[in-house]
Amino acid sequence: MNYLVGNWKMHTSVKEGIRLAQHIKQGVASTDDVTVILCPPFTHLDAMHGLFDVSPMELGAQNMYFEDSGAYTGEISPFMIADYCRYVILGHSERRVVFSENSTLIQKKVRAALNHDIKPILCVGESLDIYEQQKTFNFLEEELTTSLKGIDPAELGSLLIAYEPCWAIGSGHTPYRDEIERVAKFLTVTTRKVFDNPELNIPILYGGSVKANNVAEFASLPHISGVLVGGASIRAEEFCAIHAAMAQLNQ
Ligand code: PGA
Repeated sequence: MNYLVGNWKMHTSVKEGIRLAQHIKQGVASTDDVTVILCPPFTHLDAMHGLFDVSPMELGAQNMYFEDSGAYTGEISPFMIADYCRYVILGHSERRVVFSENSTLIQKKVRAALNHDIKPILCVGESLDIYEQQKTFNFLEEELTTSLKGIDPAELGSLLIAYEPCWAIGSGHTPYRDEIERVAKFLTVTTRKVFDNPELNIPILYGGSVKANNVAEFASLPHISGVLVGGASIRAEEFCAIHAAMAQLNQ
């Protein structure tokens, strides 16, 4: 199965979001070989939930806190989003960089999501500095192992991992294909080692400047099971063209 995740970030009003989702729903209806997961702002979840009843699309959140309720002004809990979402993006680099989230906090969120039957899309990715110093593998190993510490191996079937180099997000630059493939393989091998399970196959997605004209390069890689799309996910035609390119690869 291939995954196409749209991370709308802090864009669109509820009305605009509904229109965008309807447009996308029509555009992706031709095949259900690709699981489409739209992650709008929290304010859209209730209104968009109804649209997805009989469609191959899924709804996800972009973040959540790990507690179910309490005095956490401004936060949204897994308990609150569980009514709407089957997925949640966790540890996105904008959360890590702009909001100072670290892997210890993200690990708590991963656990909380799994406890609520919400599938985490765990993001990992190195900065440009680390990439240029060729320390990507060491960095990702640390991010991944800390974020997954103590997770019940029986629940790993619900997890997705997104490799998103920070320097590729919104920049128009991407790593070379062979670099992405090597990282994706490394993440697979690392999760197998950490959980002592040579059969473990957590889907690895690539994210960072994915567009309709380059998605096939990434989605066709042996260790990549889909893509996480930011900027291009709020342009319905572009997003549907990404979907069409992925659907074609499956034929
Ligand atoms: P981008 O963002 O597709 O705009 O590079 C990806 C992301 O932030 O997940």
